Amino acid sequence: MSQQTLGAYLDEDRAFPPPTAFVASARVRKPQVYRDAMADPVSYWESWAKQLDWFEAWHTALRWNLPDAQWFVGGKLNACHNCVDRHVAAGLGEKTAFLAEGENGDVRSIPYRQVQDEVSKLANVLKSLGVTKGDRVCVYLPMVAELPFAMLACARIGAIHSVVFGGFSAEALRERIEDAGAKVLLTADGGWRRGGVTPLKAIADEALSIGCPTISKVLVLERVGAPGSTVQAANGTKLVPTYEAGAWREGRDVSWKEAVASASTDCPCEPMDSEDTLYILYTSGSTGKPKGIVHSIGGYLTQTYATYQWVFDHQPEDVFWCTADCGWVTGHSYVVYGPMANAATQVIYEGTPDTPDKDRFWRIIERHGVTVLYTAPTAIRTFMKWGEEYPRRCDLSSLRLLGSVGEPINPEAWVWYHEVIGGGRCPIVDTWWQTETGAIMISPLPGITTTKPGSATQPFPGISCAVMLEGGEDVTPIQGALGYMQCARGETAPARGEERGGILAIRQPWPGMLRGIWGDPARFRDVYWSKFPDAYFPGDGVKVDGDGYFWLLGRVDDVMLVSGHNISTMEVESALVDHQGVAEAAVIGRADAIKGQAIAAFVILKAGTPMADGLPAELKAHVAQKIGPIAKPDDIHFCADLPKTRSGKIMRRLLRDVAEGRALGDTTTLADPAVVASLKERYEHLEG
Ligand code: WT7
Repeated sequence: MSQQTLGAYLDEDRAFPPPTAFVASARVRKPQVYRDAMADPVSYWESWAKQLDWFEAWHTALRWNLPDAQWFVGGKLNACHNCVDRHVAAGLGEKTAFLAEGENGDVRSIPYRQVQDEVSKLANVLKSLGVTKGDRVCVYLPMVAELPFAMLACARIGAIHSVVFGGFSAEALRERIEDAGAKVLLTADGGWRRGGVTPLKAIADEALSIGCPTISKVLVLERVGAPGSTVQAANGTKLVPTYEAGAWREGRDVSWKEAVASASTDCPCEPMDSEDTLYILYTSGSTGKPKGIVHSIGGYLTQTYATYQWVFDHQPEDVFWCTADCGWVTGHSYVVYGPMANAATQVIYEGTPDTPDKDRFWRIIERHGVTVLYTAPTAIRTFMKWGEEYPRRCDLSSLRLLGSVGEPINPEAWVWYHEVIGGGRCPIVDTWWQTETGAIMISPLPGITTTKPGSATQPFPGISCAVMLEGGEDVTPIQGALGYMQCARGETAPARGEERGGILAIRQPWPGMLRGIWGDPARFRDVYWSKFPDAYFPGDGVKVDGDGYFWLLGRVDDVMLVSGHNISTMEVESALVDHQGVAEAAVIGRADAIKGQAIAAFVILKAGTPMADGLPAELKAHVAQKIGPIAKPDDIHFCADLPKTRSGKIMRRLLRDVAEGRALGDTTTLADPAVVASLKERYEHLEG
């Protein structure tokens, strides 16, 4: 994060106590929950786990042998049973699970009873395709109801799902399928997006043509049209082909519709060990190779269940809408497992917020009576840019609580969200967590916490976060944390502690923590457990203020946060040097008003590569093809050399300074200081 943005955070001193009307019916009203959890975190988490259905009880709540944690050891349960069957058994079969809206306007209201049937049929289809317990199933679908169904069907039979976001390219899909060794791929003919179709099946075919030897069957959801047909785009203006009829591979490709039509709804939930793997989800790391984050069942379900209930103040009549796609962890934890374990009613939406118009989100909220909205700062900033007229067109009075996730939210966006979307009456929960933590770690509790715009406030009860210095010294301001408790009790003038800045660390194991990186235990230790001798390293900078409030300050490693998505600088660099004309590339995230960070690439061309006008566009397209459109660089700077330290490490901080047009810092460790000066000159020239 840039110094300017950081400055804006540190100056923020507005505070918003929970509104009286909200507190009156809030689920959690007493700060005592923090003290109880702190006194005995393990029993506290056990009390949450006991609210789930277990086929067999655990004998040991926590086995901790750093970095390996096991929660609820010996217990047997099934995640799908807890998210679906137990609600139907409890008489909630008619309760709406999903209000699923397609971008093309189709709306389906799906009760829990129907989820149970659909998931059971799909689970039987998976079995008929040869999937058994422990097998990996890759899911590459648009954000339609069948995506959660697919995840739950895997969980039901003990298969491990690996969802790949529909915006990823064939190459990225291939890499993830191969790393996980997936047996079956679930995809769709396409998904509606921005009035057109994302041709998922065609991309999947390409992935399978360049690799993926372990895939034996491809189940294809008929979402947009029949094979080989042309369908009307949602905006009615263009005809888009789905995929070639000839691309249907007999023996490998299976029609979802046909397979499900003849499947039985009888499919018992497989009793699983608490520590069996529920899923793998790939996230970017500091190297080019994505990490397959492994989550287990008992602990993960416990923490997603607990955090959904308390952070989003779950009330049975709520209509919850988390706008994330299930291709990201937010969709895993706060579309599928957390809300569904609580029998929540949810909206899911397939497409973009500006199709057919920029008021789409607000129309959805009005149409379905959404009460709790969970979205990302980048979306909020985009809405700000579009203007208030769009939300003003709609009745948003059903909203009572707002959430934010994915990156630090700047106070300006926070206040806009609060006023324009929340009408000044809805508390905002700014939730910090990661793919690796599985569930929310730092967040307000909306009935207790006085919020400050830009701060995720306090660790969730039962979670212990610390501020560390580079050398591993714990400088967490105890005084500050106590000050927070006084704030929480509504006492005036809490003693202000000392403000501390450093690196975030997590000192105690938590139930939803990652259990490893798929197939790479050495990397697991190296990335997360080697920075500090006895704590988890999430890769984020943090400041704790005098009241004990945590302010997350962005990544301290080589991971960029572009529109709230993790993208590694190395991954984009490898995609660039994969282009025949590129000799070397360095990539950094520069501050961007809408996306949080934008991708700036510094490229050295190979001798003899002509500097054609179309080259920047060609390089961007190349990255989109290698990784996906989300990783496309925003700026490409051609240069003759890159600033490196004497040991040959690219000085990214310096490139960031150049890309953001700031004065240059100390360059004495540079091998050739002239390089930066010429880079900066070139940059200013481009800007001018
Ligand atoms: C990184 C994790 C959590 C699901 C979506 C992203 C950043 C996330 C916040 C927040 C400040 C945040 C962190 C984190 N981040 N939420 N509320 N405030 N930063 O999951 O792709 O695994 O990314 O997102 O830098 O490490 P992810």
